[in-house]
Amino acid sequence: MITVKLRHVWHRYPGMIGWALKDISTEFGSRRIILVSGRNGSGKTTLLKIAALLYKPWRGEVTVDGQSFWEMDEAEKIMSRRRIAYVHEKPILLRGSVLENVAYPLRLRGLKWGNAASKAEEIMRELELVELADKDVKELSAGQSQLAAVARALVADPELIFLDGPFAHLDSRKSELVGQVLRARERNGAGIVIASHGRGELPKGLEPDKIIALEEGQVKL
Ligand SMILES: Nc1ncnc2c1ncn2[C@@H]1O[C@H](COP(=O)(O)OP(=O)(O)OP(=O)(O)O)[C@@H](O)[C@H]1O
Ligand SMILES: [Mg+2]
Repeated sequence: MITVKLRHVWHRYPGMIGWALKDISTEFGSRRIILVSGRNGSGKTTLLKIAALLYKPWRGEVTVDGQSFWEMDEAEKIMSRRRIAYVHEKPILLRGSVLENVAYPLRLRGLKWGNAASKAEEIMRELELVELADKDVKELSAGQSQLAAVARALVADPELIFLDGPFAHLDSRKSELVGQVLRARERNGAGIVIASHGRGELPKGLEPDKIIALEEGQVKL
């Protein structure tokens, strides 16, 4: 079980007048699918990156299981971050094949190539990506890159998974497949957080358990 809590979080980017996030208090945790919705510029990506421990908020506190993240030492920070996966709005892949990319988080955790590759193949089978295993990531379509990024996020069995606009480039069949895979992870105890412009972007059959609606950096009540 994992709980990430934000308490009175404010955030602005350098040079910004006003705030990207204003006084946000909320939490993300195991066994739930949470939708973060809102228009362009409402603060979804900023909120996800702060909750995923990637950005330090300008003001306010972020705790992981009650411990203040930004006050942890480096080793504790790494341990917390390893429990969490993040799929960026624009998928970031490394050089090399799809299989190498998907296996990468396991290699980081010290798994031998053979073990990492067979675990990577398992999740790629789930996401119907196997035939792309040897393809260079530079040659992928937008949707294929997004699927590869989802596979890479899931491969190390994270406890909390943040996905920023994961369905943007997927056709309805692939969206439904990703929706089913995410729901299965949730049933196995993971927490899932999806940012999207609205509920309508979610695949058929994927009902969020909770919605956090953002408007100009604030939670709309
Ligand atoms: N790197 C940055 N530098 C300066 N301002 C930024 C930066 N990133 C975001 N912002 C600003 O912060 C606010 C919130 O942006 P954010 O990216 O969180 O919105 P979003 O809800 O994810 O939008 P979208 O639906 O378009 O992805 C916006 O006003 C945006 O202009
Ligand atoms: Mg965004």
